[in-house]
Amino acid sequence: MLQPNERAEITRLWERKVRQDSLNLPFDQRHRNLEPSSAETISTIAAGIGARQILEIGGSSGISTIALAAAARDVDGRLTSLERERDRQEEARQTLAGLGLDSYVNFILGEAADALPTLPAMNFVLIDCEKDDYIPFFNMLAIAPGGVVVADNIISHSLVEYSGRVRAYPDCESLTLPIGKGLEITWLSKGKTSSAVR
Ligand SMILES: C[S@@+](CC[C@H](N)C(=O)[O-])C[C@H]1O[C@@H](n2cnc3c(N)ncnc32)[C@H](O)[C@@H]1O
Repeated sequence: MLQPNERAEITRLWERKVRQDSLNLPFDQRHRNLEPSSAETISTIAAGIGARQILEIGGSSGISTIALAAAARDVDGRLTSLERERDRQEEARQTLAGLGLDSYVNFILGEAADALPTLPAMNFVLIDCEKDDYIPFFNMLAIAPGGVVVADNIISHSLVEYSGRVRAYPDCESLTLPIGKGLEITWLSKGKTSSAVR
């Protein structure tokens, strides 16, 4: 469960993002972050299923990283955080260190497509990167039986193709939660193997 100091950091990062948006800054000067309500949701699910191997695709400056590292701490697990922007990941690293959560995180800097084939089967995955990559990255994932994949921005970006793809997967149950920008929560009772290279 997220602790008060972890929630405070999530709030600080979120309020910065909202401020940047309201100032209408150029996009490259704005942070893109997960809503605090979505952070609470993913943290609760990952800890609730006892996910020992947790992955996020798109860590950025770290709201989801805090949420999932807290879950990893609670279940003696480990978070792998993939991010290709150095400065964003460096900020997340420092924030997690300040919270004492960095020892639960394996930060990987680079293209997710390069890292995914090297990773073990996961119990919980957050997909929060460029929308065109959602389906190829879902295909590349290895998921342990009973694992959960969560994808953000389903409602805000009308990602019906992604929802359709995961719902067609065998032995899977999936729904969109109207939390934050819309979370597709996909439970794979038998797991899945990596079925494609990008
Ligand atoms: C919406 S932000 C993630 C927000 C983050 N989950 C949070 O809670 O603050 C998306 C991030 O995904 C990263 N990203 C997008 N495509 C990627 C890829 N192919 N490999 C690695 N990182 C990627 C971007 O650099 C960006 O920082």
